[in-house]
Amino acid sequence: MNPPSLQTVSIDLGDRGYDIRIGSGLLDGPAQFEGLPKAATAAIVTNSVVGPLYAQRLAACLKGVYPSIRILELPDGEAHKDWASLNLIFDDLLGAGCDRKTVLFALGGGVVGDITGFAAASYMRGIPFVQVPTTLLAQVDSSVGGKTAINHPLGKNMIGAFYQPLRVLADLDTLDTLSDRELAAGLAEVIKYGPIADDAFLGWIETNLDAIWARDKTALAYAIKRSCEIKAWVVSQDERENGLRAILNFGHTFGHAIEAGLGYGEWLHGEGVGCGMVMAADLSRRLGLIDQAYVDRLTRLIVRARLPVRGPALGADRYLELMRVDKKAEGGEIRFVVIEAPGRAAMRPAPDAVVREVLAAHAG
Ligand code: NAD
Ligand code: GLY
Repeated sequence: MNPPSLQTVSIDLGDRGYDIRIGSGLLDGPAQFEGLPKAATAAIVTNSVVGPLYAQRLAACLKGVYPSIRILELPDGEAHKDWASLNLIFDDLLGAGCDRKTVLFALGGGVVGDITGFAAASYMRGIPFVQVPTTLLAQVDSSVGGKTAINHPLGKNMIGAFYQPLRVLADLDTLDTLSDRELAAGLAEVIKYGPIADDAFLGWIETNLDAIWARDKTALAYAIKRSCEIKAWVVSQDERENGLRAILNFGHTFGHAIEAGLGYGEWLHGEGVGCGMVMAADLSRRLGLIDQAYVDRLTRLIVRARLPVRGPALGADRYLELMRVDKKAEGGEIRFVVIEAPGRAAMRPAPDAVVREVLAAHAG
């Protein structure tokens, strides 16, 4: 089968706008790296799993442009999305005398992308960076839109900045080495775009999920492109999450509580989001917004995506405590992304009693 042709989605943010390029073979040659700023040094930030797989190929693509190419491997995993990893980047850049023209390349999943983006936002008050996402989750969500962060023991993604990359290069071929569990985690963020913005896309996922599981590149390319189009549409209107952008966090309020409550890395981010979407859909139903049939439809798809639909037994009090730390909370009041109708989301507070009903039905 022929590889899908290169797709481009643009993020419209004026002079901070950029392209997301999606296709096979992007790391096979320098073509997709043309037009990036010249500098003495390019620093590839990756991790101990992705580095051995792809860092040399990326370095080969950059060879003609940057006289010096550094490769920095961070420890792998969500548990390392922290100050220590961020400091490893600063130590490396400062130790090598990297100036403010240095271009960072984030090669990896969302963890590497989020940390590297935050390093780029803050090193010498800001240096350019490029996202080269290698997980499905990163290709459909985290590499796009400029949210960068590290975790704090008291809450996920609590320390960070909005800082846009120069370009996003999503090479579909990197997904060949991704485990099924990580593919499932990415599917959670793909599925999310259906309920919040595009009911027809939800139908497309239902029809094409088996092709995605078979890693059909054409199906994957469409899933990534449509996800990026929806994210680009949202981010272009509300880059700094003053309103609309919060809908991208459907399922995340419950999901982040699961991640933080169990300790980062125990459940994957996408697993928390998958289960969190079931909980948030049920909350929407209990608030009288959608019917049980829609909750059942979404739950069936999340099960087919091999994601958990039952949360851990943290206890309702602990869930509520963790959710009050969520960035969407205002004055201690938790605000949830709810589904108002298939393909349409909004933000709402919810009475604790109703949230407890949801947790009683779906956790423990
Ligand atoms: P991850 O970065 O931990 O990657 C998952 C695992 O797959 C890791 O072990 C990684 O080393 C490995 N891996 C990566 N690419 C691989 C490949 N091609 N082949 C084999 N193994 C590979 O996790 P993730 O799911 O990519 O990202 C989750 C993170 O993204 C979370 O920290 C979450 O908060 C963040 N996130 C950020 C945004 C945003 O807008 N910035 C959006 C969604 C999620
Ligand atoms: N993943 C949520 C956002 O980018 O806003």
